[in-house]
Amino acid sequence: MRVLVTGGAGYIGSVVTEELIKDGHEAVVYDSLYKGHRAAVIEEAKFVEADLMDGATLKATLEEHAIEAVIHMAADSLVGESVEQPAKYYRNNMVAGLNLLDAMRETSVTRLVFSSTAATYGEPLKQPIEETDATAPTNPYGESKLAFERALKWYENAYGLHYASLRYFNAAGATEHCGESHDPETHLIPIVLEAAAGTRSSVTIYGDDYPTRDGTCVRDYIHVVDLARAHILSLNILDERSAIYNLGCGGDGYSVREVIEAAREVTGLNIPVETGARRPGDPAVLIASSDKIKSELGWQPAMQDLKVIIQSAWAWMQAHPKGYEGKR
Ligand code: UFG
Repeated sequence: MRVLVTGGAGYIGSVVTEELIKDGHEAVVYDSLYKGHRAAVIEEAKFVEADLMDGATLKATLEEHAIEAVIHMAADSLVGESVEQPAKYYRNNMVAGLNLLDAMRETSVTRLVFSSTAATYGEPLKQPIEETDATAPTNPYGESKLAFERALKWYENAYGLHYASLRYFNAAGATEHCGESHDPETHLIPIVLEAAAGTRSSVTIYGDDYPTRDGTCVRDYIHVVDLARAHILSLNILDERSAIYNLGCGGDGYSVREVIEAAREVTGLNIPVETGARRPGDPAVLIASSDKIKSELGWQPAMQDLKVIIQSAWAWMQAHPKGYEGKR
């Protein structure tokens, strides 16, 4: 299939692009490079540097490359920032997304895979979280993603669009070519590995008084390649129907302390740790039930072991000590 990947120069988008190419699809990455990295896009993919708000370029790109499906990953995704700057999140995640849907309508592209998030659920009422559970986001990031999901339902109804909305839990890990390189970095695993490498003085645990097995927050970490595979599988339903799927590894998840301990074992290095205050908006536990995508699409995570996930992130960090810096 000829697939447009918005945000394809970002962390997860670059891995989705790699997997598309591996499977023999054609990939056109559409990215403004406002956060993405040109060097993250593999050579075999085509690349268009443009913004989603630029409707004319968007439409021309869909037409020129005869795009058959869109994987829409371009977004802002920091919970804390979204509370401080809701306008940015509504504009970049909601308004820009609607612009994409307009361009798709005008060019008769009817297949969409959308990057959604566990943040659509808010403070969960039970674990593991299922797709039918209540959605009550506690921040503008989750609200903006949920608002777009809701728009998709009505666009399907009126315009015949089919979509797969994938609610990611905690993406982590790397491939040989693509890894996590954010500025600033806020995600736990790269922060822990930076502390191991000595490029950061220590890791601060955001609260150790949660009602969990060791007092620190528990999350469901999923390898970025397993996440990417779910996007490719989801393309298969889009001729017929739409769906919402959770994506995590399930089980008991891992606490912040367990992540730090696993990173010590993987790296063999000392990781200085401090304990700080809770980070506003962090639920104690977020674990996915991914039974729906397993039973409907046959998806299975291949790399559930946290140490395997951390090992891949560590290998990438060692090969790219400055991330993508200087590699355009
Ligand atoms: N944490 C620390 N110290 C740090 C960084 C993180 O203790 O320096 C803790 C957080 O409090 C949290 C856990 O580590 O309990 C994971 O934090 P991340 O920032 O890595 O990930 P989040 O669970 O906060 O967020 C991720 C995505 C969001 C998405 C959310 C949904 O980044 O976009 O998962 O589950 F909304």
